[in-house]
Amino acid sequence: MESLKFVVSWRFFLVLLLSSAAVSSVIGIGVNWGTQATHPLPPGTVVKMLKDNGIQKVKLFDADPVVLKALGKSGIEVMVGIPNDLLYSLANSIQSAENWVAKNLSSYISSGSVDIRYVAVGNEPFLKTFNGSFIGTTFPALQNVQAAIVKAGLSNRVKVTVPMNADVYQTSTGLPSGGDFRSDIRDLMLSIVKFLSDSASPFTVNIYPFISLYEDPSFPIDYAFFDGFSHALNDNGQIYENVFTANYDTLVSSLQKNGFPNMSIIVGEIGWPTDGDRNANLQFAKRFSQGFISHFLSGQGTPMRPGPIDVYLFSLIDEDAKSILPGNFERHWGLFYYDGRPKYMLQMTNSTNGLVPASNVKYLAKKWCVLAPSASIDDPQVAPSVSYACENGDCTSLGLGTSCGTLDARQNISYAFNSYYQIKNQLASACKFPHLSVITTQDPSVGSCKFIVMTQPSEVAVNEKSKALRHSAESLLFFLCLFILAVM
Ligand SMILES: *[C@@H]1O[C@H](CO)[C@@H](O)[C@H](O)[C@H]1NC(C)=O
Ligand SMILES: *[C@@H]1O[C@H](CO)[C@@H](O)[C@H](O)[C@H]1NC(C)=O
Ligand SMILES: *[C@@H]1O[C@H](CO)[C@@H](O)[C@H](O)[C@H]1NC(C)=O
Ligand SMILES: *[C@@H]1O[C@H](CO)[C@@H](O)[C@H](O)[C@H]1NC(C)=O
Ligand SMILES: *[C@@H]1O[C@H](CO)[C@@H](O)[C@H](O)[C@H]1NC(C)=O
Repeated sequence: MESLKFVVSWRFFLVLLLSSAAVSSVIGIGVNWGTQATHPLPPGTVVKMLKDNGIQKVKLFDADPVVLKALGKSGIEVMVGIPNDLLYSLANSIQSAENWVAKNLSSYISSGSVDIRYVAVGNEPFLKTFNGSFIGTTFPALQNVQAAIVKAGLSNRVKVTVPMNADVYQTSTGLPSGGDFRSDIRDLMLSIVKFLSDSASPFTVNIYPFISLYEDPSFPIDYAFFDGFSHALNDNGQIYENVFTANYDTLVSSLQKNGFPNMSIIVGEIGWPTDGDRNANLQFAKRFSQGFISHFLSGQGTPMRPGPIDVYLFSLIDEDAKSILPGNFERHWGLFYYDGRPKYMLQMTNSTNGLVPASNVKYLAKKWCVLAPSASIDDPQVAPSVSYACENGDCTSLGLGTSCGTLDARQNISYAFNSYYQIKNQLASACKFPHLSVITTQDPSVGSCKFIVMTQPSEVAVNEKSKALRHSAESLLFFLCLFILAVM
């Protein structure tokens, strides 16, 4: 009886908690879960991996029904995303914002019990590479989505935000205290910030020390990390030894200067890639991630904002179908490889020791497609074959300073062939480069350069669909029986 009473009052307490006004968020490190991969792991496998690693918050880039369903009843807090290409219609029609909220928010919160806390409206919409395409639509879309959330009665529970790239603000003095919003978008930024502030919503920013280093070869490398820097900035007695804290405080001072000293801040993305560039490797990624996480766990915050930081690491798993326009490193941001294996030893919390891999991952057969020993690298078919393989496969681990940067010409060609073959699910026809390729069961990997065997394509989407059909057929049958019983 005692235990039953406990259960009852505990339930009651939970209900009270859920129905109380602003629902407080967990303080713990979050991760970005992107799904631009040729072979994404089944969402259920990923959710288990999140739980096994004690990760309690995820940020998504869209509202994929299969992913959201897998997050249902997981206890994991979710930020769902609205991709930039939806901003135009959301900005121009309150009805489409209401449809978005009904379909992608209300339905999951009520029926699927997905713990959605934030909606990210757009993703880095003011990035210079977008040429201003989303300057006119971001703020109206944000307003319409917020209005739709209010109308749906979810505004105490779900907050809107816009993940910004860190160049929406800058400093005129080189020091954090000189921060302000970029002059060409200052008025727009202030309107957005005021709107977020009025709806008790946070400012979200993505901060990338790796990109600072990538774009500026003279960037002092130690300043990107967290283990001391001999030329630390001194800003009126506040010492900055790493670019992350300096950048974060530049935002704090930009907000402060414009009348928003208390606005809460989320770091929407931060991380370090492991391949595709000379500074993208396991050593640097581990040094950065562990340094950042230890800084996070210390709870010290930054000189202008002492205390816990709210943050989502970028990212959970590598995505081999991402655009490489920003650079070859773009497909290698994961803490985990494509198959859910951890890349390096990382202590995510004070009480865990290393990352836990995904469980029960199914691979294709142990075979590889390589350059035939009899083939000559001077064969005129080599160049077009390699370009085809790389365009449709993934050659971002080849090139100077990468994990496969020391391959010789023959191994290079094999790598390209194999990548294409694996991405094509080891289809026999995907290893038919004219007189050049052959299938082998000998692992061609060389040192740090792994020739992968792909994971089995996920059947989840297909299964979910047939399950839903079956489910509705079952309910129909059930109601039919009820009806017959009632009539009798
Ligand atoms: C719900 O989100 C998905 C994924 O982002 C999107 O494709 C779809 O258009 C959204 N639905 C509505 C009604 O806006
Ligand atoms: C931006 O402008 C550049 C140069 O005019 C063009 O190459 C690029 O495709 C444009 N990007 C977008 C997203 O419109
Ligand atoms: C910020 O918070 C402090 C402490 O709660 C409060 O005194 C101050 O009025 C707030 N400032 C603004 C602009 O909201
Ligand atoms: C983790 O350990 C550090 C160092 O012992 C300590 O300062 C910090 O408060 C701990 N953080 C958490 C979240 O327990
Ligand atoms: C291997 O391929 C990469 C990427 O195409 C190229 O940069 C490199 O020079 C090649 N190496 C050899 C030895 O051919």
